Order: sequence, then C-alpha cells, then structure tokens
Amino acid sequence: MTGTVETPVVELHGIEHSYRRTVALRGVALRVLPEEVVAVTGPSGCGKSTLLHVAAGIVRPQGGLVRLLGQDLDRLDETERTRLRRRRVGIVLQFGQLVPDLSVLDNVALPLLLEGHDRQAARTAAASWLERTGMDDARDATPAELSGGQSQRAAVARALVTGPAVVFADEPTGSMDTLGGELLLDLLVGAARERGASVVLVTHDNVVAARADREVRLRDGVIETESVLR
Ligand SMILES: Nc1ncnc2c1ncn2[C@@H]1O[C@H](COP(=O)(O)OP(=O)(O)OP(=O)(O)O)[C@@H](O)[C@H]1O
Ligand SMILES: [Mg+2]
Repeated sequence: MTGTVETPVVELHGIEHSYRRTVALRGVALRVLPEEVVAVTGPSGCGKSTLLHVAAGIVRPQGGLVRLLGQDLDRLDETERTRLRRRRVGIVLQFGQLVPDLSVLDNVALPLLLEGHDRQAARTAAASWLERTGMDDARDATPAELSGGQSQRAAVARALVTGPAVVFADEPTGSMDTLGGELLLDLLVGAARERGASVVLVTHDNVVAARADREVRLRDGVIETESVLR
C-alpha cells in the first residue's frame, strides 16, 4: 500500500432532509470509495430511499453537503447535474420507472441516445444488456406488459448500459424470487466489480446486504451502525 488517499466517489456530510413534517434524514454522513459496494439497510421508512436519492443528486437535501464523483453538487446547476448523472451514474429506482411509451429495448437504449450515441449502436448495446439480464424475449414489450421482476431486470440493464462509475440501486431485486434476485444481483455487482465501479445498494434483505463490502444501517434517519463485511 502506498498510503494514497483515494477520493471518495460519494461523500455526504451532515445531510438533513424533511418532507413537510416528516424528518427523513437527520445529519447523515457517508463516504463510498472507488470500487466499493455499500449496502444501505434498515426498517421501512428509515430514510434509505431518501438517502439514495440525495447521494445520486435526484433530491437536493435541505441541509448538508453532497459530493458526487468529486463534484460539489451545490455548485452545479440542474443541467450540469443531469449531465453528470447521465454520463457517469447508473440509477435503479425502487419502483422501476421505465418510460411507458417506449419498448423495453428503447428504454434500455435511452441513456445512450440521450448522450447522442447512434441509434443502431445504442440498440445493439441495449440488446446485449437485455440478454445478460435474461430479458431478450421481452425486448419488444412495453413496460406495462412486464412483471415486477422483469421491470427490475430492465431497470438494471438500463443502469449498466452506459458503463457508469457508480451505480445506485434501490431494492433492485425486491420483486424477484430468491434465485432470480441472486442472479440479477450477481450481474449488477459483478459488472461493477469488473469495471471498478462503486455500488450503493439499498436493501432490506440480509442475503443481499451480505454481498457488499460494507453495510450501513439506518434507523429513524440516522446511521445506527456501520460494519465492514470484507
Ligand atoms: N415524497 C414524500 N412525501 C412525504 N413523505 C415522504 C416522501 N418520501 C418519503 N417520505 C417519508 O420519509 C420517511 C423516509 O422515507 P424513505 O422512502 O426514504 O424510507 P425507506 O427507508 O426507503 O422506506 P422503504 O423501506 O419502505 O422503501 C418516511 O417516513 C416516509 O413516509
Ligand atoms: Mg425505500
């Protein structure tokens, strides 16, 4: 070891966030290092999704500092934040969030199309990710025709298609049976580890959390415990 200090991929300091009268996060600090896989766990309503949305730059917290891939998000305008997310971040939201009017294939190709990639190349890359997630049969379906588990597979394919430096995934296997969920998780974590990307994984499932390098347990909007798993 050289003793070099690695720049964290995600850095949160003193994050406070409320929705009307519900306090969701009260002073949360978190660092995620390059190549690290961090599981965020805790009971329903403890603030896991809020934390993920804040870290990914989707929600602007009422208090605290968010640094994503070395950039202080407060110093970026909306366009710059969107660009950073599109280019270097993959996001799997808790409730799928595919574009209803597009085919599954085009949903997965969309992040590349938004980045100006050629349509054919984007579709070819999307098709290969759909194959890896076991979704090649459903490429021409619309999101309404998919089961919960299939939507999650498509959402994971869409998050990985750009080769992001960090992936945020909120219960990515929550609608899947155990075996399907494990395979999808292997793919997600494996793809990240292969390319040295970091993963922040929200889950209530201990088996899923055990795949991480580190587990951060939230309770009532504060970090209750942190444990190093490997
Ligand atoms: N858009 C919103 N409007 C109002 N309250 C919200 C909103 N989103 C979350 N909350 C509240 O903030 C708190 C934290 O919610 P959050 O979704 O972050 O929890 P969670 O840990 O992800 O829960 P779950 O495991 O059920 O997904 C909860 O009390 C929730 O009811
Ligand atoms: Mg949630």
